[in-house]
Amino acid sequence: MNIDEFRIYFREQLAGMYEPEEVENLCFLTLEHILKMNRVEVSLSRKMDISTSALSQLNEVTSRLSLSEPIQYIIGTTEFYGMEFQVNPATLIPRPETEELVDWIITDKAESLVKSEKKEKLKVLDIGTGSGCIAISIAKNLSNAHVEAIDISQEALATAYQNAKMNQADVTFYNQNVLAVEELEHKYDVIVSNPPYVRMLEKKEMRDNVLSNEPDSALFVSDDDPLIFYRKIGELAFESLSVNGFLYFEINEYLGKEMIDLLKGIGFSDIELKRDMFGKDRMIKASR
Ligand SMILES: C[S@@+](CC[C@H](N)C(=O)[O-])C[C@H]1O[C@@H](n2cnc3c(N)ncnc32)[C@H](O)[C@@H]1O
Repeated sequence: MNIDEFRIYFREQLAGMYEPEEVENLCFLTLEHILKMNRVEVSLSRKMDISTSALSQLNEVTSRLSLSEPIQYIIGTTEFYGMEFQVNPATLIPRPETEELVDWIITDKAESLVKSEKKEKLKVLDIGTGSGCIAISIAKNLSNAHVEAIDISQEALATAYQNAKMNQADVTFYNQNVLAVEELEHKYDVIVSNPPYVRMLEKKEMRDNVLSNEPDSALFVSDDDPLIFYRKIGELAFESLSVNGFLYFEINEYLGKEMIDLLKGIGFSDIELKRDMFGKDRMIKASR
């Protein structure tokens, strides 16, 4: 079988499961990963015969995809903010919306650092770090940042640690349950979190490949108290942020107004809600 013939077979296997453009993208990712070629090389080698061993690996990936397993878990990596991150079923797969949150922080901080010519390190804490994508992207892009990150999951932290090493980022990781913390040990200039925020009632809006593969503990909160993480992190941050420090959250698109009320109630000011590229209320920042 050559590459063109495999592409036809792949499309037939996944037709109806994903949009045609997504099938095309998945096919390229699969071929790139197994044949160790980049996208241009794959495109230029359409008549190249595939070896028996490569074909059996390609068939395995195709069959896992047809069972709704996310491509990122199959190939074990994903791209976030221009860097490569390892992912596995203990870590959420980083989302493009979260890249927008990271970009907001980096742009804000880079601008304010230029204005203030601040010499000391900018102290940053990422709560619920998962793969470490937020913490590592900030550490790599704000050269004067000292970044710490916490997560309740040991397995996620082990992956985050590997990701920091792989990307040569200096991040200190702690295994902590934020809901059980009474106060944060240090002062921070920036606290950021993308905590679990999907209500059980929203499960039906989610795709099968998210529901059956990504960790529930990274995604879901109860319908009765969906802002449990935001309230706790907001209260901790209010006590631990430096003067002019900022709190940034990724949020549930349906709870923007509730988030503003919550942060005002804690005492935060300069609250700014921001939409993501899909026009949904997705991020919020507030100052101490
Ligand atoms: C929505 S995921 C975000 C992961 C990553 N920051 C990202 O943006 O892709 C939420 C993360 O919070 C962690 N988490 C859940 N409950 C926690 C708790 N009580 N204390 C600390 N971390 C928690 C989960 O393990 C998961 O890694």
